[in-house]
Amino acid sequence: MEKGQTKVKIGIIGSGNIGANAARLFVRAGHEVVLSNSRGGQGLEALVSELGAKAKAATLEEATHFGEVVLIAIPFGKFKTLPERAFDGKVVIDAGNYYPERDGKFAELDNDQTTSSELMAAHLKGARLSKALTQSGSSIWQLKAIRVGRWKIGARFLSLATTRKRRRLWPV
Ligand SMILES: NC(=O)c1ccc[n+]([C@@H]2O[C@H](COP(=O)([O-])OP(=O)(O)OC[C@H]3O[C@@H](n4cnc5c(N)ncnc54)[C@H](OP(=O)(O)O)[C@@H]3O)[C@@H](O)[C@H]2O)c1
Repeated sequence: MEKGQTKVKIGIIGSGNIGANAARLFVRAGHEVVLSNSRGGQGLEALVSELGAKAKAATLEEATHFGEVVLIAIPFGKFKTLPERAFDGKVVIDAGNYYPERDGKFAELDNDQTTSSELMAAHLKGARLSKALTQSGSSIWQLKAIRVGRWKIGARFLSLATTRKRRRLWPV
């Protein structure tokens, strides 16, 4: 960890392409992560072992509770399964994209009435939600995870980008 850099506890909800590669970058930058998936953290043993002492796997609720910052990297269509009161006061990074063929159709998104992040923000009561990571493919993140030696939260990760209307939600 660089002098003057703050160590951040990061909860990760969804540990697939995006969640796992973000975790690699976070750990490499000196942060601590708790990873979760839809199976209470089961199946993440190899990833946790690769990441070392700064990483654990746990339930979604435990990962959320742990994180000062919580990254949500699940298929967007599952957002209503997230416990709506668990994110109160948390800085939440929404990495999700809306794909109707995967997520099911949301009429309010199809007619540009709102954005996927606004729907998620409305569901997660009290969360301070920003959208990020949605415009680069996970292969890019994988390369960064391998190549980038240090990576500061607060820089690239928290650069805000919203889908569709590209509207800023709650800046962090
Ligand atoms: N892949 C990309 O290049 C990319 C780029 C930008 C944005 N995105 C967006 O980022 C999000 C994640 O994409 P991904 O490619 O990382 O997906 P992925 O590889 O399929 O991983 C999804 C993860 O979410 C977990 N999950 C699924 N449903 C859940 C639920 N209801 N509660 C908790 N965890 C759940 C899965 O757990 P299980 O393994 O237990 O099912 C898995 O760990 C998507 O919205 C995607 O559109 C992806």
